[in-house]
Amino acid sequence: MSGVPVDPGPPAELVGDEFSVPCLDGEQRRYVNLDFAASTSALREVAEAVTAFVPCYSSVHRGAGYKSRLSTTAYESARATALRFCGNRAGDDVAILCRNTTEAINQLAYRLSFEPDDVVLTTVVEHHANLLPWGRVARRRYVECGPDGTFSVDDVIAGLDLSPRPALLALTGASNVTGWLPSVRAIVEAAHARGVPVFLDAAQLAPHRPIPPEVDYVAFSGHKMYAPYGTGVLVGPRATFLEGDPFLAGGGAVDLVDLDEVVWTEPPDREEAGSPNVVGAVALEAALHTLTGIGWESIEAHEQALARRLRRGLAAIDGVRLLGPSLETGTLAIGTFVVEGLPHALVAARLSAEFGIGVRHGCFCAHPYLIRLLGLSDPEIQAYRQRVLAGDHSSIPGAVRASCGISSTATDVDALLDAVAFLAEDAAAGRPPPVPYQQDPRTGDFWPLTDRPGWSAHDRDSSLSCARG
Ligand SMILES: Cc1ncc(COP(=O)(O)O)c(C=O)c1O
Repeated sequence: MSGVPVDPGPPAELVGDEFSVPCLDGEQRRYVNLDFAASTSALREVAEAVTAFVPCYSSVHRGAGYKSRLSTTAYESARATALRFCGNRAGDDVAILCRNTTEAINQLAYRLSFEPDDVVLTTVVEHHANLLPWGRVARRRYVECGPDGTFSVDDVIAGLDLSPRPALLALTGASNVTGWLPSVRAIVEAAHARGVPVFLDAAQLAPHRPIPPEVDYVAFSGHKMYAPYGTGVLVGPRATFLEGDPFLAGGGAVDLVDLDEVVWTEPPDREEAGSPNVVGAVALEAALHTLTGIGWESIEAHEQALARRLRRGLAAIDGVRLLGPSLETGTLAIGTFVVEGLPHALVAARLSAEFGIGVRHGCFCAHPYLIRLLGLSDPEIQAYRQRVLAGDHSSIPGAVRASCGISSTATDVDALLDAVAFLAEDAAAGRPPPVPYQQDPRTGDFWPLTDRPGWSAHDRDSSLSCARG
């Protein structure tokens, strides 16, 4: 491929990289995982750290036993590492360990104690996790995007300058749909110049790029950064969590309790009622150490080479439309596309069943963004809305997303490009798939009608949807 920089190769291995899966032709193939933006397998170092820790596991902050001491130390060490991972932050910040980015944002939205008339400025590019929690506690104002799915710093400034001044800017560090990287530093500078604090949704950014330390609040998820053990992080100024009720009330968050009284303890413990996920914290710390040890330079060099290969390769296939910014724009190694004449759910099903390639399809929990990227008209939107409201998901719009991570290879990307070219050619020639596929209207998913091992009717759990939005 011309113009593609030399890839230094994957900087790390993940548990399960060699996993193989059954395909419709009866062959077992190495699973080509191109679904990193959804969730990631564990780094080897993470799995090893968990295995080493499990024998010491005990309650944290709740026991005098030796194992409790070891567990408490491990848990607090993870917290300190998470804070350091967010950069050289000025001020008195705390890291709150929670389940994931969604929980972190809900927690922050609750804790910021907005008035109903306060405005949160956010963007149409966001994941639902960075849209819905703000709508519960404040009015939302949106920065629009262009047909390429991007907006400029000036677009954000225009939103910041409208009256009333936003109480918060809630922005993604990287789009989970297009991999686009907004100019976070310039945007934060503009927001701060106007006295507006910034929350950064770093769910997609954190595994691939350093977190800009200038942001006031930041959240990310361990399961997207090679620590899939159920821990995420919310970082923000201690002062935000000093007054008022915590998001969750319960044990571990208090200094004193009587039947009619509670005295909450200091943050971060005040924000972590209930027994915490210590194994998740250990896993997260191991992932953060491993990523830091590898260094962003190697991670970026590898992923940028893959991004170019993937996006250019997809754009070059006849009948394929790549969504998002121009090929010259630097993005994460994500390629989101539609194949002319093939429903997105069928493309994803065929990639899996015939080629052993794992991707995601649908709206990627970013309905407003997808509608814009696909350029749907109002009548088209109304038509599919009516069908979904009637319980029929068969025509829900969407696309297919291939996303790479730290252990992805050029071979993985080429396997996808070859398979997509094959499917696009099939569609253009009107050739049927090797076996018929049936769509479930309740989920919109397709399933091959075959008795091949792994793909028979018996193997199908029809209650599961693979594109829940
Ligand atoms: C940009 C972005 N924000 C937030 C989330 C929510 O993350 P989680 O599901 O870990 O809560 C995701 C998940 O895909 C995401 O991509």
